[in-house]
Amino acid sequence: MSQNNQYNYVYARRVHSGRRRKRKRIGTLLLTLFVILLLLLLFYIVLNKNQTQSVPANADASAVSMLKTVTEPAASEPVTESVESSHITQVIDGRTYIDGILIVNKSYPLPASYDPGLDAEAQSAFERMQKDASDDGLFLYITSGYRSYAEQEVQYGIHVQNKGKDYADRVSARPGFSEHQSGLSMDINSTEDSFADTKEARWIAENCVKYGFIIRFPKDKEDITGYAYEPWHIRYVGIQNAKKISESGLCLEEYLGISSVYAD
Ligand code: DAL
Ligand code: ZN
Repeated sequence: MSQNNQYNYVYARRVHSGRRRKRKRIGTLLLTLFVILLLLLLFYIVLNKNQTQSVPANADASAVSMLKTVTEPAASEPVTESVESSHITQVIDGRTYIDGILIVNKSYPLPASYDPGLDAEAQSAFERMQKDASDDGLFLYITSGYRSYAEQEVQYGIHVQNKGKDYADRVSARPGFSEHQSGLSMDINSTEDSFADTKEARWIAENCVKYGFIIRFPKDKEDITGYAYEPWHIRYVGIQNAKKISESGLCLEEYLGISSVYAD
């Protein structure tokens, strides 16, 4: 090889290896970009998954099924969602659910047309409770379960007529504001104040949580629930929720951080 040719050969090899290094650098760069994109994609998928998992890990089956009905509405249903503190609020067709629990109190009414009848799950929970109470020698029965908007209107009207509006608002819900219209509440045995001192009332207070019920208007919570103590009024929330609420020692409003006050 002549000196000139040898020079050209060395020069060509240098150019070639320079191009190879350049291609390698580009390859490494593309690979790095690809890995970054892949990581971003994975991060996005995980984040999205966590945001859509609104069912608490320790929610019981009934609470999950309640929440499912909330999180899977028909496409046409108007749904609004918000997350306040650690609670998830969803409004569906005028009904408010917080953490999957249908809320009905002086601040959260039901539409007049909401007419579900007595909830089947709540009813069978009551029947289980009734049987166990009976094994303990006590007779529990439902004096008032589901009440329609119209029935509540009559009931509230009677209280207003008998003792005036202020009294009526302490012991009875205005139409559209009663939990009885949700089909998830029941009055057990007597609605007289003296019921509080019966074996049945004590049994309910001690045991209703095991069946998924809470005493909805506890003693000394009138300023918060908006209603006087009702040892007979139980509300179905599912076993896990009932346990958590009961263990907290709080009424439902305190537990969820909500009010119960009429707008007018
Ligand atoms: N007695 C309860 C508050 C109701 O009327 O729903
Ligand atoms: Zn009641």
